[in-house]
Amino acid sequence: MFSKIYLLLLSTVLGLTTQVSGLGSSCSAPLGGGTASPSDPFWMETITHQGTSAFNSNPSSYQVFRNVKDFGAKGDGVTDDTAAINSAMSSGGRCGGGSCASSTLTPAIVYFPSGTYVVSSAIDMYYYTQMIGDAKNPPTLLASSGFSGFAVIDADPYVPNGYGAQWYTNQDNFYRSIRNLVIDLRQMPATTSAIGLHWQVSQATSLMNIVVEMSTASGNSHQGMFMENGSGGFMDDLVFNGGQYGIQIGNQQFTVRNLTINNAQTAVSGIWNWGWTFQGVTINNCQVGFALATGGTSQADQTVGSEAIIDAVVTNTPIFIQSSVASNGKLAGSLVLNNIQLNNVPTAVGVTGGAVVLNGGTTTIASWGQGNVFSGTSGNVAFTQGNIPAANKASSLLDSSGRVFQKTHPQYAAYATSQFVSVKSSGAKGDGHTDDTTVIQNVINEYAGCKIIFFDAGTYYVTNTITVPAGAQIVGEAWSVILAGGSAFSNQDSPTVVFQAGTTGSQGVFEVTDMIFSTAGAAPGAIMIEWNVHDPSGQQGAAGMWDTHLRSVGTNMQSGQCPAGSENAACQAAFLGIHLTSGSSAYFEGTWVWTADHDLDSSTSTQTSIFTGRGILSQSAGPVWLIGTSEHAALYQYNLAGAQDHWIGFAQTETPYYQPTPAAPAPFFTDSAYNDPTFSSSINTAWGMYIETSQNIVLFGAGFYNFFQNYGQSCLTSNSCQTQIFNIDSASAASVGVYSVSTIGSTYQLSVAQNGVVTASSNLDGYQDTLTAWST
Ligand SMILES: *[C@@H]1O[C@H](CO)[C@@H](O)[C@H](O)[C@H]1NC(C)=O
Ligand SMILES: *[C@@H]1O[C@H](CO)[C@@H](O)[C@H](O)[C@H]1NC(C)=O
Repeated sequence: MFSKIYLLLLSTVLGLTTQVSGLGSSCSAPLGGGTASPSDPFWMETITHQGTSAFNSNPSSYQVFRNVKDFGAKGDGVTDDTAAINSAMSSGGRCGGGSCASSTLTPAIVYFPSGTYVVSSAIDMYYYTQMIGDAKNPPTLLASSGFSGFAVIDADPYVPNGYGAQWYTNQDNFYRSIRNLVIDLRQMPATTSAIGLHWQVSQATSLMNIVVEMSTASGNSHQGMFMENGSGGFMDDLVFNGGQYGIQIGNQQFTVRNLTINNAQTAVSGIWNWGWTFQGVTINNCQVGFALATGGTSQADQTVGSEAIIDAVVTNTPIFIQSSVASNGKLAGSLVLNNIQLNNVPTAVGVTGGAVVLNGGTTTIASWGQGNVFSGTSGNVAFTQGNIPAANKASSLLDSSGRVFQKTHPQYAAYATSQFVSVKSSGAKGDGHTDDTTVIQNVINEYAGCKIIFFDAGTYYVTNTITVPAGAQIVGEAWSVILAGGSAFSNQDSPTVVFQAGTTGSQGVFEVTDMIFSTAGAAPGAIMIEWNVHDPSGQQGAAGMWDTHLRSVGTNMQSGQCPAGSENAACQAAFLGIHLTSGSSAYFEGTWVWTADHDLDSSTSTQTSIFTGRGILSQSAGPVWLIGTSEHAALYQYNLAGAQDHWIGFAQTETPYYQPTPAAPAPFFTDSAYNDPTFSSSINTAWGMYIETSQNIVLFGAGFYNFFQNYGQSCLTSNSCQTQIFNIDSASAASVGVYSVSTIGSTYQLSVAQNGVVTASSNLDGYQDTLTAWST
């Protein structure tokens, strides 16, 4: 309940994917580039819409894809389209309005053709919704001059006169995405406190390719985004122009990539957090870049805990970072700055009231930190406001300008509808029970590398491995589900792969977007994804997944079968989530590997005891970009074993709530074939992250949390829910760089060779404890 999971990655050109036919693909006419003509609408608008919600009470009539124009919206820049858009959002008995905490049964895409849609009150966003605009020609939501409402798009509305009550619990507000929209607040008076997005969300959420236009009048009260809490999350390719605040944000953790803010008074106003990672930030002509509320050092007094910022360019802005309270040798607001280019920015880091911590100018900050810095096996606390050891970023991880490489979720905007093949049109049922293994395998064999394979919304039950060659491009619709079940996945002594991405040694494009991988219990022998494919030379990030998640809860594993505290063998959901094998490369952005702690389809969010063995195992020699999270697996959430050249953005993990009853690794066994860590009577809970014999690993922001001991929380105040949570096998291991790591509930924050090194008590930073940097 407290927080969940995330795993993400990066990208380049919206929709223009260079197609390289995979070596493993058997198709005869390689796809090549997109053939849509400039006047064609986005393929998503014209493709046949036959997606369903398999477990809805009425799957034949429930509509997943909703074009707002079919609900009466005009998009003509004049007509008030609010009611039509809200009807497209809510029709079909969806989960919202305050009476439904969560549901997987009513997914929807609310689609906007290009045009200008005038709105006069909030668009309230229901659970499990993707709002998607035409990617070729993004539509505008134009707030009318008399707009009244909390925000133009509201992902967690407050209930009127509800004394603070909201539609959803902020830490459980999952499965949302907004893409390809312009939100324009400029018709509203500058003095009105207008908000573009109220984005109070948790895991499995994303914002992508959004522009918010605001007043540039001095003293205006507009803001692009307001986020007061939650447990996110990922967002990328966002532009905020004008405003009092570009964005005003508080949330446990988040990863933000490719953020641009122009002409705001304050670009980023930070209310509170445990840890955020910003990768690729551009700030132009603001008064302050980051204004951070700091100084909280107790669980009752949470302010901004830690910010890790890499690859920023800040121009004509008097102050880049301003904290509200000076640190004065105590850890109050950890900062990590890496590759920050300042152009006419007199103060790099300062304190409200004028004190300067780091002078600016026109200069580049290579690697600077504020907070407690550690090295090797010494637990000595060295409070630092100065240069810190630089991350050893492998060149394979960087773009030609030396920044960490980025690749945006491919949307195939240049492709014609005829370049897609639908699995339902090819005979797959997606009804949650028909065995679709053979049909799906046949579609992949015939079309991988020749067509983009479209999984119409649905739940595709498979009973054996789906083998997908390099060259494949797979697109889901509102998170289409591949659900594995049956005897092939029942034996943890002989695990079987559900989805195999390329074979050993294969190279090529391999793209998976908007999918979910899940199992129907019991499946203790399921490896949900085995990732073998590698980028071809010269095509960084060609093999990746975006907005694609793993989920262990659901079919045969709900609160009825798997109540909290039970140890039902039928509730063993998987052996391993994702396995990156030694020859693979991977770019994963917005991937949540979740073993459910509660039932999304129970009206009271009832807790569950569901067991998965392992989260993410990487043995890859790289390059690997992971911006993400993994939660509640029994042995570990991340295991890097013999891995090289990894960039890991904000990694968030949680230990299972049931542990140590049973103690890790139960109900699984350790298996040396999978480089499992060892456990003992004193190490009997899951590792957040375990790094062994690996090199060139950069961990740039992490939150390793444990909130429970056998469902009780009395361990929290003494940080004794578990002893150790993050292990590096040897202090002399080549170049593992660790920055901005927050922990909760663990006595030690970092261990070397399973001996605790950094104590949480030395790094009190609010609700969480934060170490600013550790290096070998
Ligand atoms: C969410 O944040 C707001 C603003 O900081 C605060 O008033 C509220 O108590 C928070 N709610 C929760 C559930 O943390
Ligand atoms: C960053 O976002 C902007 C605006 O959406 C986009 O034009 C640009 O290509 C993106 N850059 C990268 C590296 O993805």
